Amino acid sequence: MREFAAVIGSTLILSLAALAAAPAHAQFARPQDAVKYRQSAMTLMAAHFGRLAAVARGAAPNDPAQVKENAHVLQMLASLPWSAYGPGMQGGDSKSNIWSNPADFKHKREVLQTHIAALSAAADAGDIAKLRAAVGAVGASCKACHDAYRK
Ligand code: HEC
Repeated sequence: MREFAAVIGSTLILSLAALAAAPAHAQFARPQDAVKYRQSAMTLMAAHFGRLAAVARGAAPNDPAQVKENAHVLQMLASLPWSAYGPGMQGGDSKSNIWSNPADFKHKREVLQTHIAALSAAADAGDIAKLRAAVGAVGASCKACHDAYRK
């Protein structure tokens, strides 16, 4: 039974990996679906990041369990918007230079994800000083990309 569950589990992981690897235009029927998807992911990122930023600046109580949960949710959310930047998915408030500078856009999202990983580690460790530093770095990486690529 346990082996069966393991097989089902690895099949599921393989199918999810295949899905994530599929080209974006195969995942979104229309460009406006991709725009809505990435805007929704960004909105959720802002909500969870906002809660962490409030703790970092002392405007909200430091509840370690909630901090951890918000950090983990943020880390997952920060993996989402990018599949909605495939060929032909221009629109919304995304500047078209994203499609002419794919390497820099990718670099900026990798910087974000690196700082969010540090934030998540600080949350797991319950280290408020490191959390503050990581919140600052994450906020700066949101802004760096918005300055370059958001209308
Ligand atoms: C690599 C680039 C990049 C990074 C990093 C990034 N964003 Fe964005 N963000 C964008 C772009 C581009 C848009 C415009 C999306 C669209 O309308 O197509 C956007 C839109 C948004 C929006 C508006 C969503 C809406 O409903 O229109 C919010 C809120 C937002 N981002 C929050 C964040 C936060 C918070 C972070 C950091 C935790 C972040 N973003 C990091 C590129 C980025």
